[in-house]
Amino acid sequence: MDQQLYDFGMIGLGVMGRNFLLNVADDGFGALGTDIDEDSVSALNSEGKDMRVKGVGTQKEFVSLLSKPRKIMMLVPAGKIVDNVIEGLLPLLDEGDILIDGGNSHYDDTDRRYAFLKAKGIRFLGTGVSGGAKGARLGPSIMPGGDRSAWEDVKPILETVAAKVNGEPCVTYIGESSSGHYVKMVHNGIEYGLMQLIAEAYDVLKRVGGMGNDEMSALFTKWNDGRLNGYLIEITAAILKFREEGTETHLLDVILDKAKQKGTGKWTSQSAMDHGVPVPTIDAAVTMRAISAFKEYRQDNSKLYKPIHPDEVALKGEGLADAVEKALYFSFITCYAQGMQLLAETSIDREYNLDLEGIARIWRGGCIIRAELLEKIREAYGKREGLKNMMATKEFRDDLFACRDGVAEVIHQATERGIPTMCMSASLQYFDAFRTENLPLNLVQAQRDYFGSHSYERLDQKGIFHTSWDAPREAKVMDPPSGAEG
Ligand code: 3PG
Repeated sequence: MDQQLYDFGMIGLGVMGRNFLLNVADDGFGALGTDIDEDSVSALNSEGKDMRVKGVGTQKEFVSLLSKPRKIMMLVPAGKIVDNVIEGLLPLLDEGDILIDGGNSHYDDTDRRYAFLKAKGIRFLGTGVSGGAKGARLGPSIMPGGDRSAWEDVKPILETVAAKVNGEPCVTYIGESSSGHYVKMVHNGIEYGLMQLIAEAYDVLKRVGGMGNDEMSALFTKWNDGRLNGYLIEITAAILKFREEGTETHLLDVILDKAKQKGTGKWTSQSAMDHGVPVPTIDAAVTMRAISAFKEYRQDNSKLYKPIHPDEVALKGEGLADAVEKALYFSFITCYAQGMQLLAETSIDREYNLDLEGIARIWRGGCIIRAELLEKIREAYGKREGLKNMMATKEFRDDLFACRDGVAEVIHQATERGIPTMCMSASLQYFDAFRTENLPLNLVQAQRDYFGSHSYERLDQKGIFHTSWDAPREAKVMDPPSGAEG
């Protein structure tokens, strides 16, 4: 009887769920799936017909066919559906069974579900899975957080399923409670930043340099062989040259410029704000998606304001390509640096106890932000315990400094022509702000104290001070004030 039981179950047989399950079966594990949609169940049965794979139509049959402790992953849309699935499943489960949420759930939901399921004796893993449908089939990057004993039980399966880099699986136990989903959220925040930076590079090459799509595709292909190597650069090269069958039109040229979003980038910015960690490249990427959605406003405004044609001769050819390459490398570093610092700070604030080297390691393969740069990031965090921002390391300092002129030049060329480079500009400003010892925020503190008695600290004396600015007298030392509202 036991021989016929399956090792791993999947609820949600959309293309991600089916592919993940077929990947599990590739490695010799018995893989069982269920979905309320009959066509998805049939699709699994036909795609997995020569493997130890089975799709069933009811949760009751599904649960009865899994070996104990049951190992069940849900790959369903984030939100209420996850709660509904859990509610339906709970009466059928036994104590010690393992439930894995492999979707992009918000970390607050994961904290709530973790506590709820723990009280019921169910071991829960909030797990980020990145790599899209292809990654799920061939090897994704997997970020499981939550019940550690559950991780130990599913580890042999997840390690075989995950992508491998130099033989190392792109999966590791991330930490307690919602840490897996938090880390996946930040991964997506970085993804938003990198995508927008590449979009700005494309815009500058096209509108400043006058380059065509095929020429740009060749350039991205060349860059993919260098230090910019990574999945997003690789797919951009492919997208740029893509033509629909039987036409000469590049598909990219007829795609509407309104970017949608499912929320993980915005959550990254929101959480970063809550924790007081600056992630301006990611914020700018989220903002650009929002601006892109206002297509009609942009159309109207483009008629209201004349195009800008500067006297200055545009940078072209190799000179521009080199500057854009530097701008991208510079901005990519700052984007990863912001995401990693957010993880470093929230690891403390949220008691996740994250291993940043391990996170960089499992992002090197399988996931959307995989890139050669992650090996260098892994090394930087591996060498220095407690490192928060990698900009503070010599290896990245040298790169950033060597590329600063490139990003400044690209922003200059674009700004002269009214071409927006919000993400590149945010990256440069972040870098310049973070290397400035004395920022002008002394004035902000003075203003706050002037209108709101919010107090300030001084460079020349210890303590907290308030001044009656319109009747200047000596600054008064005071207890930390509640402050009037401004
Ligand atoms: C995903 O999770 O599918 C993507 O990584 C991010 O999706 P979005 O761009 O639709 O927010």
